[in-house]
Amino acid sequence: MSKDVDDPLLDHNYDGIQEYDNPLPGWWKLLFWASIVLCVPYTIYYHVMDGHSILDRFELDMKANVVSLNLTADGATILALRNDPEKLELVKGKFQTLCAACHRPDGTGMPALGPNLTDKYWKNVKSLTDIHRVLTNGVPGTAMVAQVSNLNKDELVLMSAYVASLSLNPKAGKEPEGEEVPAWPEEAQSKGSE
Ligand code: HEC
Repeated sequence: MSKDVDDPLLDHNYDGIQEYDNPLPGWWKLLFWASIVLCVPYTIYYHVMDGHSILDRFELDMKANVVSLNLTADGATILALRNDPEKLELVKGKFQTLCAACHRPDGTGMPALGPNLTDKYWKNVKSLTDIHRVLTNGVPGTAMVAQVSNLNKDELVLMSAYVASLSLNPKAGKEPEGEEVPAWPEEAQSKGSE
């Protein structure tokens, strides 16, 4: 120990070993007392009042992120959303996590799994609202299960529009299945009403 320690020696003598009365540094004591003082408002705020922990805040942020647009599941809405890249962006990630395993990330389909969603051939679909029906009910007896537990109401509509947007740019992929639907009946309706 350096000689310039001016702390007094303590009276105790432990078998010849003596110790200095070495006080803890001021900053350490400040932290000690500050943590004791702070634990009172901390406990009141987080455990008695409704203070949000990091986890609570994360969950709130996630909830805020969930789409809440009150969309109607009709052809006109799906048709309009099909050309709204900003809204489609909301379900793009979900397509990758929920659908890509069978339909491929770009929707071009997989042998023995999901059909090509980018072509104009459809097995269970004749109109835009049929896409929504397939997502809501699935195709019984196939690997295409209902998506109601994965997607909320708005997301089902958005995902229908996302699927519809894929066939705007047909891509080679799994061979065509089902019947050709050259144009959606909803498109004719919307042109008729213009
Ligand atoms: C486990 C595999 C699997 C997953 C995951 C899956 N699908 Fe499918 N999907 C299929 C199969 C298989 C069919 C064809 C059913 C049939 O034979 O009629 C299908 C059919 C469809 C159809 C109708 C195609 C047509 O030609 O009639 C649409 C639309 C569709 N899927 C969209 C989706 C979307 C969107 C998701 C994600 C939310 C998804 N699928 C997830 C396997 C899957």
